[in-house]
Amino acid sequence: MDRIAITGGEPLCGQIAISGAKNSAIKLMAASLLTDAPLRLTNMPRLADTRLMGALLRRLGAEIEEREGPDGSETVLTTREIVSAFAPYDLVRQMRASFNVLGPLLARSGHAKVSLPGGCEIGARPVDLHLEALRALGAQIDLHEGYIYAQAPRGLKGGRVEFPFSSVGATEHAMLAAVLADGVTELVGAAREPEIIDLAQCLGAMGARIEGAGTSHIVITGVGSLSGADYAVAPDRIEAGTYAMAVAMAGGEVRLTRARAEDIAALLDKMEQAGVEVERLNDGLIVRRNGARLRAVDVETSPYPGFPTDLQAQFMALMSLAEGESVVRETVFENRFMHVPELRRMGADITTTGREARVRGVERLEGAPVMATDLRASVGLVIAGLAARGETVVDRVYHLDRGFERLEDKLSACGAKVRRLTNGGGV
Ligand code: UD1
Repeated sequence: MDRIAITGGEPLCGQIAISGAKNSAIKLMAASLLTDAPLRLTNMPRLADTRLMGALLRRLGAEIEEREGPDGSETVLTTREIVSAFAPYDLVRQMRASFNVLGPLLARSGHAKVSLPGGCEIGARPVDLHLEALRALGAQIDLHEGYIYAQAPRGLKGGRVEFPFSSVGATEHAMLAAVLADGVTELVGAAREPEIIDLAQCLGAMGARIEGAGTSHIVITGVGSLSGADYAVAPDRIEAGTYAMAVAMAGGEVRLTRARAEDIAALLDKMEQAGVEVERLNDGLIVRRNGARLRAVDVETSPYPGFPTDLQAQFMALMSLAEGESVVRETVFENRFMHVPELRRMGADITTTGREARVRGVERLEGAPVMATDLRASVGLVIAGLAARGETVVDRVYHLDRGFERLEDKLSACGAKVRRLTNGGGV
């Protein structure tokens, strides 16, 4: 199992190009099931999660070609026909978002058998809202032995879906199902994340009629069929936010090209309050911290446009070195403090009560062997390692490989001492 070793203390200087967004890319790949024509996605990140989605889509009937084009990495997906409407447990359990093939399969072939995703590290994460949305579109849904059996023999029908709280996955799932439904669908209480807009724009390029994406009220008018399209995946706001915090942590100055400052406004505001310099550009941003210690700032995660839960672990790592005490509240997931014991191993002073963590900034972190527990938590440990004295070795790096493209190359190019230890390699 690979590990990543970081020798802390080097400032970061240079430029990092932000990749296409993982959370968009995997849903856009699922959208390819809705048409028999090729969907060409450019600015595609190459990650374990996109590979996993590719493996599932191939089983369902997609032909997938990956190549390096003039606009970077691209993937062309063509599903002439659905050869199987069955998504097995061993694929769905590895990546929860693969559950989102259920809607497109139903829309295109009228039936599907898809495994329930099961638990995950950061909480129970049920799919009840996904299933309610599909039922509102006329799907008949049964559960047997861990599998969802869904049917819509005469096709899905437009309907009204009211989400009791914001869910990114359920909103996307409802959109993927409704674009080919007969009639108008209204999504009330929809999630407003930039990835929802990305999906709506891609589906729009394929001929779907969607209004209001990015607001909590989305209206979809079903069409008879969708065409192929060329679409560029939006830049990854979580990757951008993570590297912004890496610079704040290690010191130095880095230009994050292609980053969209407006997508991470909640984070950048907090970073500025803490004393980090941020310059917003048309095509990216510059993050700078020279010398002075950061100030403690409180954060509370919430759905977009609030502070993203996917940046909470990294912000906590940052606050562990700030002057004063900060309170970090997690309101989106119920079990997302698994990085706390690992940060404590590095000398951080953090206590948790329920969904609240109190972080008392320390003068210095020390390198230590630590274990990645989930995707975003593990990158929080990497950026803590950049500022720690001595060496930090992060184990279970497969979590990182799910969502960060060439992490060690990008950081090393800015002067960080980061290297991957492959299976069996000593420290
Ligand atoms: C997506 C992102 C993930 C991010 C999260 C919140 C992808 C692949 N993943 O996850 O990185 O952390 O949004 O921004 O895009 N819930 C239910 N019932 C449901 C669905 C969700 O109770 O049917 C709950 C979840 O357990 C959670 C909350 O709703 O507490 C929000 O989850 P949701 O927005 O659905 O997250 P995901 O789409 O799974």
